[in-house]
Amino acid sequence: MILKDILSSPLGFGAAPLGNMFRDIPQDEALATVEAAWNDGIRYYDNAPFYGAGLAELRMGEALAGKPRDEYVISTKVGRVILDELEDVSARQQGEKSGVFAHGRANRVLNDYSYDATLRSIEGSLERLRTDRIEIAFVHDLAQDFWGDEWIARFEEARVGAFRALDRLRDEGVIKGWGLGVNKVEPIELLLELVEPRPDVFLLAGRYTLLDHGRALQRVMPMVAERGLGIVVGGPYSSGALVGGPNFEYAPATPEILQRVARIKAIADRHRVSMKAAGLQFSLANPAVAAVIPGASRPSRIAEDGAALDESVPADFWHDLRAAQLVDPAAPLPGGA
Ligand SMILES: NC(=O)c1ccc[n+]([C@@H]2O[C@H](COP(=O)([O-])OP(=O)(O)OC[C@H]3O[C@@H](n4cnc5c(N)ncnc54)[C@H](OP(=O)(O)O)[C@@H]3O)[C@@H](O)[C@H]2O)c1
Repeated sequence: MILKDILSSPLGFGAAPLGNMFRDIPQDEALATVEAAWNDGIRYYDNAPFYGAGLAELRMGEALAGKPRDEYVISTKVGRVILDELEDVSARQQGEKSGVFAHGRANRVLNDYSYDATLRSIEGSLERLRTDRIEIAFVHDLAQDFWGDEWIARFEEARVGAFRALDRLRDEGVIKGWGLGVNKVEPIELLLELVEPRPDVFLLAGRYTLLDHGRALQRVMPMVAERGLGIVVGGPYSSGALVGGPNFEYAPATPEILQRVARIKAIADRHRVSMKAAGLQFSLANPAVAAVIPGASRPSRIAEDGAALDESVPADFWHDLRAAQLVDPAAPLPGGA
């Protein structure tokens, strides 16, 4: 499957905030945010059982119920099975993501990359999303930020479990494609070195953004492009820090990050370019990138995202960013600037 071929637009919707990421989002606000995305023509929705222990999938299932299923694409994740029993949310060990979904559901989250758990995870997602199919499954957080040094052992568990299950499901036509959904480039590099698994597309979060892209440019982006696979850019605003929000990934933005944002913003202001346009258009300029999926927990964000995609950005803005060494010299710039 080539992701670009099944998407009507490169702008999708990232549902992590709908799982009550960082704050308790009222149900009607969450549903109205998805409705705004639909009304704005967004037809690609990314989700995960992990987002609020099923909450984001339940909300999206409710919001999209009744919409023509052939008109939109869903990706969700495997690697966590959501159980009916409850657990102490504050005791969850979730690496750099610990506490991020403290306002989500208290259902027990079972980390499991085995073959059987992958099938069970998909069953659970189908139920919560109220659909009979999902198009793409990403193996979630199989990386250092979640697992520390254990990530290689978990990767091996997935190699003989989740990867085989997903290859089979794709070959049987149950899903259209699969890959990893991670915040690090190394697991993607490792998977691309293996002969047996046949992934189609990767969700790379936070590593091909205006604020952070140097490492991805070295190997992952060229490898993915050469093989005709695709990258979905998650966290294109680095969790909001790039566009005026308080967080950089899973913690409050540091003074260094805020200073870098301010330097980019000074150049953007000079050229009357919005930070959203700069961020989304930068990510999409790389030929490996098939989609960007900004997250939102308020309806008002949606129109901003759509406008950012359509905004006309002068080539001089990109030249000035490059001259100020705020983008990697090897990064492709929009319009071949
Ligand atoms: N491992 C993985 O697979 C992985 C990891 C990370 C992300 N992802 C995917 O990528 C998606 C996007 O990532 P993300 O949601 O973490 O981050 P993001 O898209 O980089 O940023 C979203 C955040 O930006 C904030 N924002 C948007 N417009 C703003 C404005 N005008 N002023 C201030 N703040 C603004 C939003 O705030 P509000 O909440 O106030 O709207 C939201 O919290 C996720 O939802 C998920 O689908 C996947």
